Amino acid sequence: MRRVVCPGSFDPITNGHLDIIGRAARLYDEVTVAVLINVEKSSLFTVDERIDILQTVTKEYPQVKVRKFHGLLVDFCRQNDIPAIVKGIRVVSDFDYELQMAQLNYRLSGVETLFMPTNPEYSFLSSSRVKEIARYGGDVSGLVPDLVHKLLIERLRG
Ligand code: PNS
Repeated sequence: MRRVVCPGSFDPITNGHLDIIGRAARLYDEVTVAVLINVEKSSLFTVDERIDILQTVTKEYPQVKVRKFHGLLVDFCRQNDIPAIVKGIRVVSDFDYELQMAQLNYRLSGVETLFMPTNPEYSFLSSSRVKEIARYGGDVSGLVPDLVHKLLIERLRG
């Protein structure tokens, strides 16, 4: 069984994340989407809300499962027998940051990191930009799944 993890905050998931998850699902037998529990960072959606959203929007991929984790990602990988991490790279500055993380994770555990170039259609996209646009009334349709679009409007504009 070939397993990989797609880790992140997913607050909320964007179409860029979903593209990477879907492409990983074509390459691997099992893709675990792992949501970081980060008590130090305030979030728009709770971890459990994010898990519900992720489960709904990845329904079409039977090989995708969604879990939460805290602590080190490589410990989660070890506990779940996952040998590799997949990360989307949008721009060169992502690579700079992700390379260091990948090297550290490998040094800590031997877990590999595989980089997948983001679809250029989404290379400008991030959860924080989506939240900012939605907060000020901008249109984020096409940037996030329809469910997220609806939930953003509900949460940010009452
Ligand atoms: O969506 P994000 O916030 O960019 O995701 C970052 C994430 C969750 C992948 C990263 O912060 C992470 O792996 N955190 C867990 C702690 C850890 O393992 N840090 C790496 C030490 S080298």
